[in-house]
Amino acid sequence: MEFLLVYLVIVGVAAKSHKVQVCPKRCVCQMLNPNLATLCDKKGLLFVPPNIDRHTVEMRMGDNFVTGIKRKDFANMTRLVDLTLSRNTIGSIAPHAFKDLENLRALHLDSNRLTRITNDTFSGMSKLHHLILNNNQLMHIHSGAFNDLTALEELDLSYNNLEGAPWVAIQRMSSLHTLNMDHNMLSHIPEGTFSGLQKLKRLDVTSNKLQKLPPDPVFQRAGVLATSGSMGPTSFALSFGGNPLRCNCELLWLRRLRREDDLETCATPQHLAGRYFWTVSEEEFLCEPPLITRHSQELRALEGQSVTLRCKARGDPDPIIHWIAPDGRLMSNSSRAAVHTDGTLDILISTVKDSEDIAWKLTS
Ligand SMILES: *[C@@H]1O[C@H](CO)[C@@H](O)[C@H](O)[C@H]1NC(C)=O
Ligand SMILES: *[C@@H]1O[C@H](CO)[C@@H](O)[C@H](O)[C@H]1NC(C)=O
Ligand SMILES: *[C@@H]1O[C@H](CO)[C@@H](O)[C@H](O)[C@H]1NC(C)=O
Repeated sequence: MEFLLVYLVIVGVAAKSHKVQVCPKRCVCQMLNPNLATLCDKKGLLFVPPNIDRHTVEMRMGDNFVTGIKRKDFANMTRLVDLTLSRNTIGSIAPHAFKDLENLRALHLDSNRLTRITNDTFSGMSKLHHLILNNNQLMHIHSGAFNDLTALEELDLSYNNLEGAPWVAIQRMSSLHTLNMDHNMLSHIPEGTFSGLQKLKRLDVTSNKLQKLPPDPVFQRAGVLATSGSMGPTSFALSFGGNPLRCNCELLWLRRLRREDDLETCATPQHLAGRYFWTVSEEEFLCEPPLITRHSQELRALEGQSVTLRCKARGDPDPIIHWIAPDGRLMSNSSRAAVHTDGTLDILISTVKDSEDIAWKLTS
């Protein structure tokens, strides 16, 4: 009787384990009750194996030679929580390739060959907490590409070729605690980007093309900023070295923050070039009001002819020259006029209406 019982139990276990033993060739599948992990790191894989158990919770495929992600590769894997595709040669991701991964928390795509992220790459991934995209060749991220990533806590876009980012979507990531955008080509971060990010603990924009950072209450929150060492519960790590900082009044707020010295330097204005940011005194962070230095005098033209009006101004920050039409409206590019950033206005076909005053307005 005892013998029979043991025999039955063994049969039961064998049958159950057989049911979950769907494991791609060369991979290791671990049943960590009740979760299944499919481990395929460093297996020389050229594509995502088609026979992954759809119940897999953790999927590791780092250090392979996968070149693209197809729509069916991760289809129906609704239980997947953690997906690692680091260090492959992935250059393309099919639209909606991650669409079924409704429980995914972490997606590692670092060290691949991605050049762009489109609106449908990460659509619907509203539970994703960690999105790691560093060390790719990203040049462009569509403005709506991160719209659904509202639960994101960590976003790593460092070491790419980004000139911009979907700032509006980033602004809405209220759980974000780490944002790494260092080693890109960013030249502008819109004001207000970080205002709603109350949980932000780390912002790295080292080595970009930023002349300034947008002032934001989030930077004041912690009081003492540190780039290294232990992080207290309220401390905030901000790194912005390696940017061509313009040390004028627009950066005075940053200079006033108390923080550990670091190696940030000023690039402009010329007399401050090369000086360590933290050794320049507050009084030296100066601006210069905009001033018109030269402009066109009265011009006469026959109706229908083209006319070029010029205006030069200086100031710090660089003034922006606007042209105001006789009807009081700001002039912009149209079939009849071209407004150039150097302060030149081309009126391509003049009309009698233009013969009244065209005025300048300077803003900085
Ligand atoms: C996903 O599920 C659908 C419907 O059950 C099925 O038709 C399809 O073959 C599945 N795809 C994969 C890759 O398992
Ligand atoms: C991406 O989505 C945004 C809005 O979310 C839209 O403005 C933009 O045109 C879309 N881009 C493309 C290429 O579809
Ligand atoms: C207007 O067009 C000119 C070229 O015709 C271009 O250089 C300039 O950047 C445009 N201005 C704006 C505000 O788009």
